[in-house]
Amino acid sequence: MSSAPEIATEAVLVKSDPMPESSEIVRGYDFSEGVDYHKLFESMSRTGFQATSLGQAITEINRMIDCKFQSIPEEQRTEINLNPCGREPSNCTIFLSYTSNLMSAGTREAIRYLVQHNMVDCLVSTAGGIEEDFIKCLAPTFVGDFALSGRELRKKGINRIGNLLVPNSNYCLFEDWVLPILDSMVDEQKEVGINVCLFVLTNDDGKEIDNPNSVYYWAYKNNIPVFCPALTDGSLGDMIYFHSYQKPGLVIDIVQDIRLINTQAVHAVNTGMIILGGGLIKHHTCNANLMRNGADFSVFVNTASEFDGSDSGARPDEAISWGKIKLTAKPVKVYGDATIMFPILLAETFARREAEFKDYFMKDK
Ligand SMILES: NC(=O)c1ccc[n+]([C@@H]2O[C@H](COP(=O)([O-])OP(=O)(O)OC[C@H]3O[C@@H](n4cnc5c(N)ncnc54)[C@H](O)[C@@H]3O)[C@@H](O)[C@H]2O)c1
Repeated sequence: MSSAPEIATEAVLVKSDPMPESSEIVRGYDFSEGVDYHKLFESMSRTGFQATSLGQAITEINRMIDCKFQSIPEEQRTEINLNPCGREPSNCTIFLSYTSNLMSAGTREAIRYLVQHNMVDCLVSTAGGIEEDFIKCLAPTFVGDFALSGRELRKKGINRIGNLLVPNSNYCLFEDWVLPILDSMVDEQKEVGINVCLFVLTNDDGKEIDNPNSVYYWAYKNNIPVFCPALTDGSLGDMIYFHSYQKPGLVIDIVQDIRLINTQAVHAVNTGMIILGGGLIKHHTCNANLMRNGADFSVFVNTASEFDGSDSGARPDEAISWGKIKLTAKPVKVYGDATIMFPILLAETFARREAEFKDYFMKDK
């Protein structure tokens, strides 16, 4: 009887080293135990692929929150509040950043929850991420379809954002609402002689909207600064353009904004970054954290890949090379649509810990 060639048996039956004792065994959720969403999401980290990344992101955000609840070490307490926006310091300053489309989507309500309950400390978005919140207070956005014809929609005056639809009349309502605010800013600027910065503009709009459904209403109420260096790249830019003909003179000082956001990071005891999407919002947040030699905790959720060299797709490791994330941090990137990932992340972190946040605000820090 002949035996199999040795070269083949050696190749196929290579001996394994024993796995390290700490190794996690792959095991998904057993639905015969009934539907328990908390247990289902807990099982993600043992499931593999992006489910494991999602589980790691849940752990990382809970670490951020644990850090926030700790007292500020004595040696890092200061007599005066060094935060230029006047926000009360905590042991971990949490930056929340999101792309415009997430404000158009229902992710807005998840963001509003965090801001309303004062759970995050600093917001970063692009123009649509600001204006879409205000516009939704004036008129709704509708669910549509990715396949709707752009030509047909244009004839009807309806704009498409992915599979969402926004009637153009919403932007006309926005114009009616925002132009008087810009008017009063020009008047105030002429009277006081100080140029407004983008932070103040968004803050004033948040006060003016006076609507508890608005993210920026709560940001204004809870003194959570909002940064948007691309504020002119959207409907707000269109309005600022039209307004510059009607009542010229508005000057926006972006130097103040870069000082304000960078100072949020510089004077923070520890920082955490939760970045939903890529592009400007991701870079602006990471860059502010470079000013402190890196964030302590980081979670990126986006759909972008790194093969094209884009900052959107860059994994946290690239940010470590720049000093935007600390060498000691355990950052996580989840590849996926934030409209699905973020509500799950929130449900397993901030929302489950709402009572702890209430206790934290009650006690003297
Ligand atoms: N509603 C809108 O989307 C809207 C409205 C007005 C103006 N704009 C303008 O368009 C410009 C571009 O928008 P932007 O920079 O906010 O983002 P973007 O739409 O260019 O997205 C940047 C990257 O983020 C990632 N990303 C986007 N959506 C995601 C999701 N749902 N889940 C996971 N990852 C996601 C993708 O990798 C994407 O390439 C901005 O300057 C903005 O003001 C957008």
